[in-house]
Amino acid sequence: MASVLRQEKLLGQSPASTQEWATGEACMLIVFIGPPGSGKGTQAKRLLSYLGIPHLSTGDLLRAAKHDDTSLGRLAAQYIDHGRLVPDPLVLAMVGEKLNEPQFAKGCLFDGFPRTIQQAKSLDESLNQRKQPLTMALELKADENELVARMLKRAAAEKRADDTPETLTQRMDIYRKQTAPLLDYYRGQGKLISLDGMGTPDEVFARIRAAVDQKKV
Ligand code: AP5
Ligand code: MG
Repeated sequence: MASVLRQEKLLGQSPASTQEWATGEACMLIVFIGPPGSGKGTQAKRLLSYLGIPHLSTGDLLRAAKHDDTSLGRLAAQYIDHGRLVPDPLVLAMVGEKLNEPQFAKGCLFDGFPRTIQQAKSLDESLNQRKQPLTMALELKADENELVARMLKRAAAEKRADDTPETLTQRMDIYRKQTAPLLDYYRGQGKLISLDGMGTPDEVFARIRAAVDQKKV
């Protein structure tokens, strides 16, 4: 663990901070916040097609590292498989490296990141350095019974290692304790838009599109 943690660097200190980003309306930076199963990934992919802005899912990146059996992946598995958050330094180093890729010059749809106040502050520092503020933080809200039903359905179909009933309970708890405080953080910045995540994916996307279209005007 120590060797990977030694790679710690904050987003704002990564080489990405020197990259030229598009300015103004051309660059949309949107954070998706919501409990497990609220539809962050589903809706981020739809918005990607609509806006043509790349999607950055820390969950997908960590699962890919785990699948590839990298040192990050082996370390991350110890957290993911128990429904706990991967330590901030590891996640920040991973995201900082990823954001340096040219595709993110047009903006980014952050899915599952930030997930702690430290991650949110680090993202803000990085965006300030790039002189490109976050466009909005989109909260997807859904009833807990619906979330559990969605996740158990996915568990049967996809067999994601952390979709067991026990791990799901832990992920929900971690969301309430460590990630939900971000709602006040972004509300305080006037960036939070809370949307109903219930209904069909099409219905939810229509709400998201309306919120995003308002920012484009
Ligand atoms: P992550 O992969 O981010 O998982 P999560 O937040 O627990 O959420 P999910 O991906 O399970 O749900 P989602 O909101 O994306 O919903 P989805 O669209 O898939 O993180 C996994 C783990 O990685 C974490 O526990 C942690 O260990 C680690 N990690 C990741 N990021 C981290 C970070 N920043 N810091 C530290 N650790 C981090 O939908 C769920 C299901 O419902 C799908 O089957 C979908 O088809 C279905 N569905 C979606 N919308 C609807 C709808 N409207 N109606 C019916 N079904 C729907
Ligand atoms: Mg997801």
